[in-house]
This record gives sequence, structure tokens and C-alpha cells, in this order.
Amino acid sequence: MKDILQQLEERREVARLGGGQRRIDSQHAKGKLTARERIELLLDEGSFEEFDMFKTHRCTEFGMEEQRPAGDGVITGWGTINGRMVYVFSQDFTVFGGSLSETHAQKICKIQDMAIQNGAPIIGLNDSGGARIQEGVDSLAGYAEVFQRNIMASGVVPQISVIMGPCAGGAVYSPAMTDFIFMVKDTSYMFVTGPDVVKTVTNEVVTAEELGGASTHTKKSSVADGAFENDVEALAEVRRLVDFLPLNNREKPPVRPFFDEPGRVEKSLDTLVPENANTPYDMKELIAKIGDEGDFFEIQEDYAKNIITGFMRLEGQTVGVVANQPMVLAGCLDIDSSRKAARFVRFCDCFEIPILTLVDVPGFLPGTSQEYGGVIKHGAKLLFAYGEATVPKVTVITRKAYGGAYDVMASKHLRGDFNYAWPTAEIAVMGAKGATEIIHRADLGDAEKIAAHTQDYEDRFATPFVAAERGFIDEVIMPQSTRKRVSRAFASLRNKKLENPWKKHDNIPL
Ligand code: HXC
Repeated sequence: MKDILQQLEERREVARLGGGQRRIDSQHAKGKLTARERIELLLDEGSFEEFDMFKTHRCTEFGMEEQRPAGDGVITGWGTINGRMVYVFSQDFTVFGGSLSETHAQKICKIQDMAIQNGAPIIGLNDSGGARIQEGVDSLAGYAEVFQRNIMASGVVPQISVIMGPCAGGAVYSPAMTDFIFMVKDTSYMFVTGPDVVKTVTNEVVTAEELGGASTHTKKSSVADGAFENDVEALAEVRRLVDFLPLNNREKPPVRPFFDEPGRVEKSLDTLVPENANTPYDMKELIAKIGDEGDFFEIQEDYAKNIITGFMRLEGQTVGVVANQPMVLAGCLDIDSSRKAARFVRFCDCFEIPILTLVDVPGFLPGTSQEYGGVIKHGAKLLFAYGEATVPKVTVITRKAYGGAYDVMASKHLRGDFNYAWPTAEIAVMGAKGATEIIHRADLGDAEKIAAHTQDYEDRFATPFVAAERGFIDEVIMPQSTRKRVSRAFASLRNKKLENPWKKHDNIPL
């Protein structure tokens, strides 16, 4: 009996070594942790329960039958993050470069199926050379099985991908279908075709980092939602994010203990909006002053900075924040910001996370590049996302809410539950100057008359009161009391029930 127990321990020891000490050292030398070290940092200490530790591939081509390492290049199982269950897979680059074989895919599929059935998030730690070349089409089939489950899991359980090494070719499409992708700076990259193929086909010379590094995907392509300095930071931040999220679409987000007075008054907010309507201010200051303890987990911080998206808590409960940022492009909506915010709004709605919208928007960005790029379709994404969302929606207009962008930004007409405005709000079809130049075109040569018309327009329309008179704004509130008003509003909406008409699914403009 003792021998058998001993054998198990020995088998485990071998499995834990993956591709062996030499390859582990090489992984460390690149500044990367091993697949097991990553799981240890991601999960609560001692909480990891592994599946399929001894699973091996069945390939007999290219002498593969001689090398059948236990685990087949991916470690799978479940554990907890601050006591809440998650499923995890972590690709082991030391075993065939973490490449995906038929059996490697089966291991991932098993935890995907369990996560969907049991209602817990899936976190994938990606570090892989792609399809296991020796296996050919079996590997491709394995990928497609994983993809299909990504699709089935979408909107059922949160799916988070962390790219911690190579992720190339068709392999990128599994992370691409998850809710969030995070990357590690300098050691990870994602691309559909690598630099060599790019050179052959297009004659462009580009490095892997330029083509698909963390900077490219967080700043240019928006494929990734955030980038971190190293493995340790990335895993710590994923833990932080998971704390904001519900386990599945049937549960509410977790309520965390909070030590911040919900009625906290912030006098400084009364002077946040500058006297001059064209002077920018930092919307992040408002976000920090509304949320519990100023905590904010930003999504896509480095992309389309004219809109801010992320998670805060109010009275310990998760709230998704969408806010125009007057510091960048005057906070206007454009293709990139509409896409960014639309996806975020839809994530929140999938997982019953209430949405706070902070509005200071002068309209949509004009220009041929926007029109040729399809701003009509992309802007419609955000409009559509807000309009279909049934979660509690609270909106605060701090300053400008002009034109179509007023409608889009969670207005009353898109079933906003509480629509507040600060006294500094200007809710109008457009700015006073533009409006005057159109209505009083005949007076354009007379600067004095135009100035008088502009002033008149400002006095009459550049206020929240016309909208408030119609009930489009529920209340004009003091900026200093924003946290209190918004917290109470969300508290009153905790039992909100709103259903859209039955449909198979909608047809959001893609
Ligand atoms: C089998 C692989 C492998 C793969 C790497 N290895 N990729 N084995 N299939 N796809 C093995 C190597 O043979 C090596 O084994 C070990 O992993 C580490 O690889 P190195 O090349 O030494 O590491 P490094 O120099 O860091 O380079 C990493 C790499 C490179 C850039 C990922 O290995 C590489 O280019 N691999 C091939 C990538 C590729 O073309 N994949 C297929 C893409 S097509 P030893 O024994 O020496 O340690 C695809 C289609 C998916 O993925 C379609 C889905 C729909």
C-alpha cells in the first residue's frame, strides 16, 4: 500500500515538473513565471484543485509516442479568489511550447463545460506556440471545440484571458471571444499572422512587439483591455477585477464591506466644472469622489481616452461607469469611444451590473475619417447597447449634452431610471455659437448682433432647466451631493425588473 501511495506522489512530482528543470529555468530567464506558479498567485492559497494531471496526448506521428509528458501542456482545475469559485487553465510553455493538442483542448473544454454548468468564471492564462504542429487537423478541431464553448459561455459566466507569452494564429480567437483580455508588457504578443508572414505577403518589416505587443493592443487595436508590468502584477489585478464581478448571469455582483459614508458630501465638486465652457477638467476626479474609497478598476484605460469605462462600488456594490472625458477631444463621441463604451455597457447588462453614466459630451466628432470609417454604425452600437440594457441606469449630466450624443448617453428616453443634471448642465441641440450661426445666418456679418443672439441662446437653452421642465431630467442636483444622490438612486433600484420583448437575439449593428 505504501508503495502505491509513494508511486502516486512520484507521478505527481514528475507531472509538476512539466517540461523539466531546464525549460523551467529558461521560462524564468525570460522574466516569466511557470504555469503552476501563475495559478498559485492567481488563486487563494491552497485552494487549487487540479483535473487531468496525468492526461497525455495520443499522437504517434514524428516520434511523439516517445514523449508523453503528463498534463500535456496545460494545467486545469478550479479554486477560489477571495473565497469565490473560479475555473482556471494555465498553458505550460515548458511542454511542447504550450501548444494545443487534441487532449490539451479536451482539458480546457472540460473546465469550460463545468464552469457553464456550475456558474463560475473562467480564467485562461495563455502562453502557447499555437496548434500542436505534429497533430495537424486534430489540433485545429481542438481549437474549434474551445471556441464553441467560449461562445456558449459568453453572457453566462465571465471569461477573462491573460496573455502571458505567445498567442498567435487562430489561437487568438479564443481570447478574442472572452470578456476581457489582459497582457503582460514585453513578454506577450498576439497576432493572426506573425512578422515573417507579414514580410512575405505585404513586404512590411515589423517586430513581434510592434505587431502584437501589449502597447499595440492596448493603445492601437483595442484588442486588449489592459497591460501590466509583469506576471505578478497581472495576476494580482485579475484578482481585483474578479472581486467586482458576479460568478454568473443568474447572480448579483458581490457586496463587499465598505468604509465610506454613502452620504459623503464633496464640496470640491461644486467647482469642478470651470467657468469657461470650453475649459476641460478631469472626469476621473468626479469618478474618484463618487465611488467607495475612490476605488476604480479601469477598462481600456489607454484606448479612446475620450470615454472612460470601468468598475467602482457604491455602498459595497459593483457599478459600471461610463463617462465622457473632457480632457481628450473635448469628450466627444467617435468611432473608437462608441465601440469601447458599447462593449462595456453590454458586459454590464449581461451580468446585471448597474450602470452609472457621467455626461459631458459636445456631440459626435465631425469629419471624413469618421464618416468613411462608419461612425453611423459604430455610434449606433452605443445607442443600441444603452437602449437594450435593462439593468439600473443612473445618469448625471455635468456640463454639455448636445445633439444626438445627449440621446445616446443613457438619456431618459433610453429608459434611464434616474437622470440627474448639475446646474452647470447645458442640454441642447448644439452649442450656442453653432446654433446662432445657423438660426441667424442673416446677421453673420454683424458681430454685435451675433454676440447678443448667442447670449440669448445660452440663457434660454444652455441650462438643465428646459429638459427638467419636461421631465427628461428628474432633478437638478448640487454637485457636492452627487455620491449621496447616486447611491440612493441605485439603492432604490435594487429590485428593478424590466424585460425586453422575447427574441432569439437582437441584431446590434456590428
Ligand atoms: C509543437 C511547439 C510549437 C508548436 C513551439 N513548440 N511551438 N511544438 N507545436 N506549435 C516547441 C518547440 O519545438 C520547442 O520544443 C519548445 O516548444 C519551445 O519553443 P522554442 O521555439 O524553443 O521557443 P521560443 O524561441 O521562445 O519561440 C516560441 C515560438 C516558436 C515563437 C512560439 O516556438 C514558434 O514560432 N512556434 C511555432 C508557432 C507556430 O507556427 N504555431 C502554429 C501556428 S498555426 P523543445 O523540445 O525544443 O523545447 C496555429 C493555428 C491555430 O496556431 C488555428 C486555430 C483555428
